[in-house]
Amino acid sequence: MTYQQAKELLEKKGQSQLLKYYDELDDNGKAGLLAAIEKISWDFEDALKNPVDLSGKNREIRPIAGLRQSEIQRRHDEFEAIGVEAIKSGKVAAVLLAGGMGTRLGVDGPKGAYDIGITKPLYIFEQQMKNLLDVVNQCGVKVPLYIMTSDKNHEQTTSFWKEHGYFGYEESDVKFFKQEMAPAVDFDGKIILERKDLPALSPNGNGGWFASLQKAGLCEDLHARGVEWLNIYAVDNVLQRIADPVFLGATIESGANCGAKAIFKTEPYEKVGVLCMDGDQPDIIEYYELTDEMANQRDENGDLEYSYGVIMNYLFRLSKLEEIVDKKIPVHIVEKKIECLCEDGETRKPEKENGKKFEALAVDLIKLMGSVLPYEVVREKEFAPIKNKTGIDSVESARELLKMNGVEL
Ligand code: UTP
Repeated sequence: MTYQQAKELLEKKGQSQLLKYYDELDDNGKAGLLAAIEKISWDFEDALKNPVDLSGKNREIRPIAGLRQSEIQRRHDEFEAIGVEAIKSGKVAAVLLAGGMGTRLGVDGPKGAYDIGITKPLYIFEQQMKNLLDVVNQCGVKVPLYIMTSDKNHEQTTSFWKEHGYFGYEESDVKFFKQEMAPAVDFDGKIILERKDLPALSPNGNGGWFASLQKAGLCEDLHARGVEWLNIYAVDNVLQRIADPVFLGATIESGANCGAKAIFKTEPYEKVGVLCMDGDQPDIIEYYELTDEMANQRDENGDLEYSYGVIMNYLFRLSKLEEIVDKKIPVHIVEKKIECLCEDGETRKPEKENGKKFEALAVDLIKLMGSVLPYEVVREKEFAPIKNKTGIDSVESARELLKMNGVEL
């Protein structure tokens, strides 16, 4: 993009402030700024103009039926056989969503490169790969792995995996792709400058993962391998079971387009989004959207009716994803403290929220998938999220859970 093209585009968009310091920049700075402007995804304009009503007011929410552990145990062998067969015939791939910033954990670089070991190094990526290798060893075939990164951590992530020999995988079985970046704006809708040569851009949430995978040309690879199911999972759960044959078998057997691993809520106000029906479509209702009455509603067995709390481990049918990829998913607008260029020319994070970021969420794809199987996991065996350094959902709590599951730290 030339300076003239950038100028015209930004004038049209009312964002000319991005070129305020252009004349002060050296050649590298000028080129970098123009390249960054060219990359801006303008979807945020529509999100600002027509914010999606996420309040739940116009929804027809009701509980959803799912698969409890008792039933899963009873039909374990049947489900497992279906799942193992699908894996052996190459129908399953894993997709690790690792484009996030991990701000709460407060480390530089990719969250998966965080060392959770005590007496020896044990990286988050490494522990997750050990879990995946359990399935690979059981089935005797590799489950191809696709890893989503962002501009903010791509180089570090790819070199980390290379350095560590792909954690027991072949290089050809691990493919990386980048997600899109969205600009951050101030409260007047103006894109914030992070530096004189850089607009504030951040990963656009985990909801665009399939569109990004497709854009990277990886659907051809999936088809060439005969993949029919994608298991997406978050980087922060170190007890994550990936390509779990029993989960896979149960989802295939159910005929649903999607399977969602879930912890079963026993406390009405637990802060986790739960699966539900909205009219005749499956959906998620966030914990803060549940009314008191809904949160406490119980079925004839005394269990909470809104009880399947999602843990960011989903199976998606590839053919359905391809069908819905162009459909719009809501963009969530979140007020945040955004690093910005200050009067003195320095870049700093403000003490108070100074603008808005735009994020699409993977969970919002469930509605478009049309059908979902909520699948209860044993919480202590499969859910050890690392969001913070200490306290709830932290390195400390995850270490305890790993130890309980026999992992040596
Ligand atoms: P979180 O919502 O916990 O976000 O991501 P985060 O960026 O990792 O952490 P904070 O909020 O800054 O502390 C859940 C999963 O989705 C991925 C993350 O890498 C993690 O696996 N994710 C999140 C993306 O891949 N892209 C995004 O833009 C956001």
